[in-house]
Amino acid sequence: MKTHIVCGSHRANSQGMKVAKYVAAQIEKKGGQASITDLHHNTLPLWDEGMWNDDPKWAPIWGPIEAKLKEADSLIFVTPEYDGMSPAAMKNFFLFIAGGEDTVAHKPALIIAVSASRGGSYPVFELRGSSYKNAKQVYIPEHVLVQEAQKILNDGPSSGPADDYIRKRIDYTLDLLAEYEKCLKPLRASGKINYKDYPNGM
Ligand SMILES: Cc1cc2nc3c(=O)[nH]c(=O)nc-3n(C[C@H](O)[C@H](O)[C@H](O)COP(=O)(O)O)c2cc1C
Repeated sequence: MKTHIVCGSHRANSQGMKVAKYVAAQIEKKGGQASITDLHHNTLPLWDEGMWNDDPKWAPIWGPIEAKLKEADSLIFVTPEYDGMSPAAMKNFFLFIAGGEDTVAHKPALIIAVSASRGGSYPVFELRGSSYKNAKQVYIPEHVLVQEAQKILNDGPSSGPADDYIRKRIDYTLDLLAEYEKCLKPLRASGKINYKDYPNGM
């Protein structure tokens, strides 16, 4: 299992990154490999048309992230809920991968939403509804809501039943993601995907 995790939090030391690191460690424990892109602090500036014209300014910024996406068999998008939305950094990220046929297209993707309170559903709905048309990642039906994030997935033992539950749920979801990896690999190799005539979704 080779998974690239993208964390859409805008804040340094975010709960999103705490979750991303926890998930990465779990993947490694299962014998997989995980890497993380932390989008906070303008890691990826706002997309501009230079991306269409091979403007050399983008190569050192986008190149290393793109390489990680290309290597990955699966993706995890960790999105906080900001004002009932997935944050701008997360949405900006999808502008870069749209059209990148061998980055995330037809690879399984898991959404993990992070909320300080009982939220998280809105960003899940938003990513499921609007981020995949041209990038073509395949969101698996399971997602994870990390609610009251400050209280759970902290270093050390579980803090109680809510923490136990989410740890088990993440474990289960990562196992499923690994199975989707196996299922979708032959699909990508099938020769049935036609990027030349149909680069973008309808
Ligand atoms: C600008 C902003 C808006 C937020 N709006 C919401 C919200 O609508 N719903 C919610 O559950 N949490 C909201 N939060 C709290 C986040 O859920 C909280 O910061 C959580 O730790 C995830 O964000 P983080 O990864 O940046 O830490 C907001 C946080 C920020 C910074």
